[in-house]
Amino acid sequence: GYDATPFLPGRRAGLPGLRRAAAGCRGCPLYEDATQTVFGEGDTSARILLLGEQPGDQEDRQGRPFVGPAGKVLERALADAGIHPDGTYVTNAVKHFKFTVPEGRKRRIHKSPSLREMTACRPWLVAELQRVRPELVVALGSTAGKALLGPSFRVTEQRGALLPWPGLDDGGGDGSGGGRVDDGVRGLVATIHPSAVLRADDRDAAYKGLVSDLRVAAHALD
Ligand code: URA
Ligand code: SF4
Repeated sequence: GYDATPFLPGRRAGLPGLRRAAAGCRGCPLYEDATQTVFGEGDTSARILLLGEQPGDQEDRQGRPFVGPAGKVLERALADAGIHPDGTYVTNAVKHFKFTVPEGRKRRIHKSPSLREMTACRPWLVAELQRVRPELVVALGSTAGKALLGPSFRVTEQRGALLPWPGLDDGGGDGSGGGRVDDGVRGLVATIHPSAVLRADDRDAAYKGLVSDLRVAAHALD
């Protein structure tokens, strides 16, 4: 099956080593059409880790997470919620851009990653969590929530509350047989994806909902 584990460096590698290794990941077919791996970035001792879905068109070109339109929404919402971006680490559940190009068009249209691709890519996220050791994880949207809580996760039902941290398994890729990883995380807050604000009929209401969920995350660290 698809799996990033064979591409991971040893346990002692830090974030720079992980990033270098992730650049060569072929754990699932998504590397084939994408431009590059978009690894996480930010404060390496952040108290909050923000988890998106996967890089978009701009992120794929620039090699950095949340630098496109969704990133602009996120930046503003964090500021309005009182979360300083310097104290966060930002990454995605899936590290390569998945897209289609509709017949006769040039623009690349985002496609949601499959459960297999999410599962394949998860070792990178687990490795990032082990290095950053944030106190809180904020899941931005359905894919991020599912990557952490499983396929039964529903944003509409679980957003805006401090949820217990499920604990992630490292899959045993280091030969240990697998098991729950001690990553120090205390809780999880889920919200909508910032790009959902851009697609909403009532953008203002969607934006306010995003900010209000992010405030729950900010206060969880008070
Ligand atoms: N959407 C995401 O989920 N992640 C990004 O990095 C950009 C857009
Ligand atoms: Fe590897 Fe993840 Fe990219 Fe698939 S999406 S090739 S698992 S980094």
